[in-house]
Amino acid sequence: MLSNTASHYGTITKLFHWTIAFGIFLVIPLGIYGNNLAHAIEANGADAQTVARAAFVFSLHKTIGLTILFTALARIAWAISQPKPEALNGDKKAEHWLASMIHWLLYGSLVLVPVTGWIHHSATSGFAPIWWPFGQDLPFVPKSDSTAHLFEGLHVVFERVLVASLVLHIAGALKHHVIDKDATLRRMWFGTTAVGPRPQQHSAKTAILGALAVWVIALGIGQSLGLYRSDTGQTTAALESVASDWTVQSGQIGIAVTQFGSQTNGSFSDWTSAITFDETAKTGSVTTTINIASLSIGSVTSQALGAEYFDAATHPTAIYEGQISHIEADQYASTGTLTLKGQSIPVEFTFDLTIVDGLAKMSGTTRLDRTDFGIGAADEGTLGFGVDVSLNLTAAR
Ligand code: HEM
Ligand code: HEM
Repeated sequence: MLSNTASHYGTITKLFHWTIAFGIFLVIPLGIYGNNLAHAIEANGADAQTVARAAFVFSLHKTIGLTILFTALARIAWAISQPKPEALNGDKKAEHWLASMIHWLLYGSLVLVPVTGWIHHSATSGFAPIWWPFGQDLPFVPKSDSTAHLFEGLHVVFERVLVASLVLHIAGALKHHVIDKDATLRRMWFGTTAVGPRPQQHSAKTAILGALAVWVIALGIGQSLGLYRSDTGQTTAALESVASDWTVQSGQIGIAVTQFGSQTNGSFSDWTSAITFDETAKTGSVTTTINIASLSIGSVTSQALGAEYFDAATHPTAIYEGQISHIEADQYASTGTLTLKGQSIPVEFTFDLTIVDGLAKMSGTTRLDRTDFGIGAADEGTLGFGVDVSLNLTAAR
């Protein structure tokens, strides 16, 4: 009774079939609902409540999705070890072939859909963690925008193939039950079912080729719709270069925040620094201007730039003006004021500086409280108050 026979599905096959069906009927609406929330956030800006709800919905979606994946892998292993009950309409060549092709599509989807979702998730940082304990990241997946967009597109394409297959699959099951009045649906349900005589079976071996063709066509449609491309984002006017005793050759301004308990890193790609520094007196000054819209932070860049957070539209730049003083050896401090989102707050940071052959290398960090600048909600539920800012640069005289 646990195993399949030539005429019946065993209990284990049935349990697998209906638990996964149940999971699929949960995970699809969650994905669609979460996606709608995400679009609403992009269109109307992020209020903390909607962001928290979207994150909850996506975490649930991803966690159930991965549960389905691992259950499906066990199910596939089980199905391979089992005889397949003969089709009750095995004599109707086209119908039997179509039903088999859809079974291939369903089995394949149970792997392709969650795996592409998981890769998409691993390629981005921040937002809606998976609640399973086995970590957020897949070892072979780089954190990259293009990988994220590619797999986001693939997830949607494979998910659409799954939905279409499922509609046909359910329609087929109902046709057997209502029109053909045979035992196809009843024998997939629990308990013993009399199936009656089984007809001569046509082979449906080529049905797997049909399934492959469906995926190839769907991937082609996804390509023609541009679903795998990363959008280049808003382009903003770059900052004009500034006159400085020291010219910055390379460097990075990074920020690290804690979102839903895990660290998310971002950086500004466009900023300028005007630096004076007297090597004998070991004093100087620095004015750094940051183009806020050049921020990139995982999958939440557009939310971060919205009105509730950085509000890049109203406050396009942040400016730090500081005086440099020597502490000891290679250690220096800069004491000054950071003006960000219309608020000016005293900010001090310590940094290491070495100058060799007219080339200065500095690196420093400081910790800010985002609420000092009116950034984000005044609770730490989704986003921690502390923001670690790091600055590394190489400058030549
Ligand atoms: C209301 C929902 C569903 C109904 C009524 C339904 C019904 C059935 C029935 C009657 C069969 C037996 C077909 C036969 O005897 O040839 C079957 C098999 C199958 N179903 Fe479903 N199903 C549902 C949902 C799903 C879902 C969500 C999936 C997976 C995504 C799925 C995947 C499969 C697969 C792969 C088989 C072939 C099993 C095998 O031959 O080992 N089904 N389903
Ligand atoms: C069987 C498992 C899964 C199914 C059936 C499924 C299905 C869906 C559906 C229907 C959507 C909405 C797409 C839209 O409205 O255009 C969606 C979106 C999404 N899913 Fe899944 N999913 C599954 C597993 C996963 C897993 C395991 C992850 C990540 C670990 C994941 C991550 C996502 C993400 C991030 C989105 C939003 C995509 C976007 O921004 O366009 N999914 N999924």
